[in-house]
Amino acid sequence: VPPEEEWPHGGVNSFSFKTFDRAALQRGFQVYKQVCSACHAMHLLSYRNLEALGYSEEEIKAIAAEYEVTDGPNDQGEMFTRPALASDRFRSPFPNAKAAAAANNGKAPPDLSLIVKAREHHEDYVFHLLTGFVDPPEGVTVPDGAYYNQYYPGHLIAMPPMLFDDGVTYEDGTPATAVQQARDVTQFLAWAAEPHMEARRSMGVKVILFLMVFAGLLYMTKRRIWETAH
Ligand code: HEM
Repeated sequence: VPPEEEWPHGGVNSFSFKTFDRAALQRGFQVYKQVCSACHAMHLLSYRNLEALGYSEEEIKAIAAEYEVTDGPNDQGEMFTRPALASDRFRSPFPNAKAAAAANNGKAPPDLSLIVKAREHHEDYVFHLLTGFVDPPEGVTVPDGAYYNQYYPGHLIAMPPMLFDDGVTYEDGTPATAVQQARDVTQFLAWAAEPHMEARRSMGVKVILFLMVFAGLLYMTKRRIWETAH
């Protein structure tokens, strides 16, 4: 069981009124873009969704334009490639699951759009998985193409350790230790899996406030009706 961590947003599956840390989300997106997206798709995200992280329309257009996507057929019936637009989904690293598995020792890297919600222990699991690569205990042999991870169920995972100190250079100057990158990308993946968390929480607060006022009104009304009725 992964140890429990403190998350600035309180965890997508926890009772909390907290909101996402936008700076951490942007750093986490940078880690996804520069490291994870070599193998993992996030097919539920479009580039324009990044607006929620605080990027401007211009910045998003520029991010999208870094990628080539296949479009078509055109008037001649041919498929063609073009730079991605803000309305395109995140570019997938492989054309299909078979190609993804073939490139990764037979195990396709799962789509990360919903991974924080899909896995038990949510953020805590993803964070500790990313930092949980250790030497195998004595007597355990790790086959070729597998890596020993203390938090992966069964321990033998087909994903190599991916995060190293200064493996990325943060645009905001935050020191990019492997742990910092893991924390940031985990928060980015939490946002991706639960993008309406903040709206849901603020609606919850409003509903409770409304019910408190409404209960008070009902109580006063009840008193008024019963004191005058003889
Ligand atoms: C599996 C995250 C980078 C290859 C996974 C899983 C997560 C994850 C959460 C699922 C584990 C589970 O099933 O419980 C990430 C993140 C990355 C990253 C956040 C960037 C920081 C990469 C890269 C590669 C890769 C660059 C390829 C070189 C794989 C593979 C699996 C996997 C092959 C399937 C493992 C198996 O089924 O044994 N990753 N990953 N990952 N990842 Fe990554």
